[in-house]
Amino acid sequence: ACMNQPQAAPRAVLFDAYGTLFDVYSVAQLAEQLFPGHGTAISVVWRDKQIEYTRLVTTSNHGAHYRPFSELTRAALAYAIKKIAVSAHSAMANGQFNESNPLQNHVVDTTRVDALMGQYNQLTAYPENREVLLALKNLGVQTGILSNGDPAMLQAAVASSGLADVLDHVISVHSVRKFKTHPDAYALGEAACGLPAAKIAFVSSNSWDALAATWFGYQTLWVNRQNMPFEELGTQPVKTGTSLRDVLAFFD
Ligand code: LAC
Repeated sequence: ACMNQPQAAPRAVLFDAYGTLFDVYSVAQLAEQLFPGHGTAISVVWRDKQIEYTRLVTTSNHGAHYRPFSELTRAALAYAIKKIAVSAHSAMANGQFNESNPLQNHVVDTTRVDALMGQYNQLTAYPENREVLLALKNLGVQTGILSNGDPAMLQAAVASSGLADVLDHVISVHSVRKFKTHPDAYALGEAACGLPAAKIAFVSSNSWDALAATWFGYQTLWVNRQNMPFEELGTQPVKTGTSLRDVLAFFD
């Protein structure tokens, strides 16, 4: 009699975009081509700074400094290139300088920035996504994206990955000018689906996103594609998996 009540199966499933539905590995690959030996470092700093900037503009001065995700992403890339360029200059002082190194110059080269930003418009979906989204549609469940990405970025990624026909909603936080993890951003999912968060599954490969969505009240799946530890803040996602397929466990 004191057993936990299993939660009712969700009526909608919302997905984070970058790293969850869309594979951003091609961006790191191109970074390595453009900045040989520094691609991974640039990608990691870029991603961390991108997320940091979303929080900075959401929490400062009541959102007065809000800029769309594409602009913050471009700014974060400029930062990453400058930061890694500084490391490359220290390496030069240690005798490791390579004449052909594109990082030798502190001026951020817009051709390379444009090329990397362009990758965001041609991302591929992870291979299992289409069949999982189709299975959800067959279960009569609403599907959608709830992302920090601005509408043009998301439209490009949805078109390029060929998922448009299996997504009911493509929700950008841009309409509220606040990034996840602000509750107004997560609330957009409830409004679009016409359901309370408890009846919606939210899927993210970002542990911070899965954590905050759990706090918000969604049934959550953390897709741990990178074999990372979860956040150490005392709350666990409802489910943890390794691919999008694990979302189907909500409907067993
Ligand atoms: C998004 C980022 C956080 O799509 O991946 O919202």
